[in-house]
Amino acid sequence: MNTSEVLSARGVDLLYGETLAVRNAEISLGRGEVVAITGQSGSGKSSLLYCLAGVLPVSRGEVRFAGRALGDLDDEGLSALRREQFGFVFQYGELLPELTVEENAALPLRLAGQRKAQALAVAGEVLDRLGLAKLRERRPSQVSGGQCQRVAVARALVHKPAVVFADEPTGSLDSGNAAAVLEEFLSLARSQGTAVVLVTHDSQVAARADIRYTMCDGELKEEVCEAS
Ligand SMILES: Nc1ncnc2c1ncn2[C@@H]1O[C@H](COP(=O)(O)OP(=O)(O)O)[C@@H](O)[C@H]1O
Ligand SMILES: [Mg+2]
Repeated sequence: MNTSEVLSARGVDLLYGETLAVRNAEISLGRGEVVAITGQSGSGKSSLLYCLAGVLPVSRGEVRFAGRALGDLDDEGLSALRREQFGFVFQYGELLPELTVEENAALPLRLAGQRKAQALAVAGEVLDRLGLAKLRERRPSQVSGGQCQRVAVARALVHKPAVVFADEPTGSLDSGNAAAVLEEFLSLARSQGTAVVLVTHDSQVAARADIRYTMCDGELKEEVCEAS
């Protein structure tokens, strides 16, 4: 169906005990594609994101990355996949407070075994593109919320992953800052061919995606959701 498919979910359910948080989810993500998932709080967006990213094992169905079922990988294979092929951006950045801005951004390269000087040089280029060149040696506590999210974006993209999973990446920012960070994030991802799964409750954020899904009570639908 989608010849450049990198990630897909087929018939995915996720149960927390008796709670069916994700029901029969079907999604296909092409190389470099930006997909948004909107929906109210509690509708199951984060749960689906964690299934797609191989963070939570699915209860039924299958998630495939590059044609390979995540369920066939052992823990080590899954962590290597997440480390090498995936990037993550969360609502509050979750930067490491004891590392500088450039060390935070360089983390995926360091985990991949790159030498410090080289990793910092590559991270520096990405930070530069996000307008953070002058803040490289500061700690997260010494930069603004919007700048923190840009550092989180740099860290998610620095190793040129196949997919970035972003859960409310601009949810902690004011609307002006949110729009600017989102713009820079998506333009950087698109320029390097990284696909993005963007979870948000903000329809303006979702409008920037190539494909939009809505989640209602654990059910994923393309584009429209009558109940919202
Ligand atoms: N760790 C958990 N244990 C039990 N129930 C959970 C857990 N995480 C989420 N849920 C429930 O699953 C449903 C979907 O939650 P979530 O995926 O966080 O939604 P969203 O991200 O759209 O706000 C909600 O009913 C929530 O209460
Ligand atoms: Mg959530």
